[in-house]
Amino acid sequence: MIIFNYIEQIKICLSNLKHSGKTVGFVPTMGALHQGHISLIEKAKQQCDFVVSSIFVNPTQFNDLNDLKKYPRSLQADCVMLEKAGCDVVFSPEINEIYTSEEIKLMQQQIEDKTWMLDMVVDFGMLDKVMEGAYRKGHFNGVAQVVSKLFRIIEPDKAYFGQKDFQQLAIIRSMTKQLGMSIEIIGCPIVREVDGLAMSSRNTRLSKEQRELAPVISIILFKSKELYQSLTVGELKSFVEKEFNSIPQINLEYFEIVDVNTLQPILEYSQTQSAIACVSLKLGEIRLIDNVILY
Ligand code: PAJ
Repeated sequence: MIIFNYIEQIKICLSNLKHSGKTVGFVPTMGALHQGHISLIEKAKQQCDFVVSSIFVNPTQFNDLNDLKKYPRSLQADCVMLEKAGCDVVFSPEINEIYTSEEIKLMQQQIEDKTWMLDMVVDFGMLDKVMEGAYRKGHFNGVAQVVSKLFRIIEPDKAYFGQKDFQQLAIIRSMTKQLGMSIEIIGCPIVREVDGLAMSSRNTRLSKEQRELAPVISIILFKSKELYQSLTVGELKSFVEKEFNSIPQINLEYFEIVDVNTLQPILEYSQTQSAIACVSLKLGEIRLIDNVILY
């Protein structure tokens, strides 16, 4: 496995490969890797000749400075995991390799208002007006900004994203289409701990007590999947909200039942659409998200 820190170097390596007709699969990450990330590498490995992963904690997608500062970083352990999973190339740039000095200046100016809005990359319509988009102002703009830059550097044939961040996956699909990029976006299932908790880099920040409580998130979500056929959308939402609100350590941000394609809340179940239940909450100061496809 080769590790590159500079765009020029990785571009030379990848252009040689592409000239020999090899297909490239790309897995962007922010590091602090776990089995969820590795499942994306494994999928890419199955489908492509060559697998590239990036490790870059992207400041423009954080709307909480404290979250950015405390984001876990473990580059060495990450590289060991990636190599074991069969990753061929890692791209691990410094911030000034990804952002111009102009962009960094703008970021620093905008730290104060906590929404690091650089130029809008694309218009997501209603996709980023709900759930994560509504709660994390500027977040998806930052995600689109960094992923579009990474796509232009790597120019992969396929790129792999987890359904854990279901809205992010929809945003990336929309961005790729709008920018006319011929990259196939592959969504991969959520990988969970044995007790059901969706794997997340932020889980390492949970205290022992919080970690013991955390599986309740997926337990309630899976209960909603069992119940949806016997309750209206409104009843199901009230039931789930009540369940979460009865746990003092949990601060529920939202529980939404949305159309899998438009991500807009549904008012009633319909046979012509699929619905997904998405939750975001804070356990102490740690923000966690999870989702389950209802039908
Ligand atoms: P990060 O949170 O590191 O996640 C990288 C990829 O791993 C994302 O596609 C995410 O959905 C996927 N992933 C995380 N946990 C998972 C799980 N339990 N099961 C399956 N897949 C999982 O998402 C980002 O980084 C960033 O926003 C990024 C796309 C890299 C842009 O900065």
